[in-house]
Amino acid sequence: MAPRKPKVIVTRKLPDPVETRMRELFDTELNLTDEPLTKAQLAEAIGRCDVLAPTITDKLDAKMLEKAGPRLKLIANFGAGVDHIDVAAANARGITVTNTPGVLTDDTADLTMSLIMAVARRIVEGANVAQAGDFHGWAPTWMLGRRIAGKRLGIIGMGRIGQAVARRARAFGMQIHYHNRKPVSPRIAEELEATYWESLDQMLARMDIISVHSPHTPATYHLLSARRLKLLSPHAILINTARGEIIDEGALADLLKAGAIGGAGLDVFEFEPKINPKLLGLPNAVLLPHLGSATIEARVDMGEKVIINIKTWMDGHKPPDRVIPSMM
Ligand code: 8YV
Repeated sequence: MAPRKPKVIVTRKLPDPVETRMRELFDTELNLTDEPLTKAQLAEAIGRCDVLAPTITDKLDAKMLEKAGPRLKLIANFGAGVDHIDVAAANARGITVTNTPGVLTDDTADLTMSLIMAVARRIVEGANVAQAGDFHGWAPTWMLGRRIAGKRLGIIGMGRIGQAVARRARAFGMQIHYHNRKPVSPRIAEELEATYWESLDQMLARMDIISVHSPHTPATYHLLSARRLKLLSPHAILINTARGEIIDEGALADLLKAGAIGGAGLDVFEFEPKINPKLLGLPNAVLLPHLGSATIEARVDMGEKVIINIKTWMDGHKPPDRVIPSMM
């Protein structure tokens, strides 16, 4: 008799090839409507599956995990960030949590560079002028932005994505500075000619552009607090493609509104999908709806990682992308 296939519940619509493969390999329940699950639906799902494949839109905190049934052994997250999952609470219940690191690095770094360019060169403002039919002729002092070559880029969180941004920024002629829990290896520091700042406060005060790439954890919640944001220089540009909760969004909106900093490029928000109304309509803020990994290639690769994690677990091995709470 063939061994029983695990019951896998996928909470959102995934790319077709990923769903097809999951159906072949597992007893898979898909969400073809792509409606995010309500709390009650999520509780019902974790009560009866062996594996849950959630996304950032599913909050799996300790209270929700109390609803996990005895069969639930693996949460195979579709995404790298796991701040929507209480990993320690899951582990305490014997549930392994996996994620999809590595495959969205290039796309997120590309989007970060797009935001740097968009803010520094006023691309969205300019595009809106042209689209509205308001381009009435070139002028020497009209719509001037800032050059990025030669400028200091301060990267907060020098993991995979931070380093990928640094490599791109070097090609644009920027100088690389970073703040991290610890310095990167001498080999990488040399390759990127990167300067390590142990003091985040000191780095913030001296950069032209700051880009956030750390995970959201209790230690990084409001890392860029109202006090720290005030350290930024008046022309500084702040970019966030990591998690909204790392920045005090209300304080940032006030600074942008007052023209106290140069601008911001934000792909993520503190209360996603809500965006602080104070940010809306500001000409010096470029806002995107969480598009960091939004390429078909990344989303298929993320799906393949989810499948590999489930398959290795199903075959009795340790899944490759296990999230260990002490590493977060
Ligand atoms: C994902 C992300 O699309 O992977 C991450 O951490 O932020 C996004 O790019 C999202 O998390 C999917 O769950």
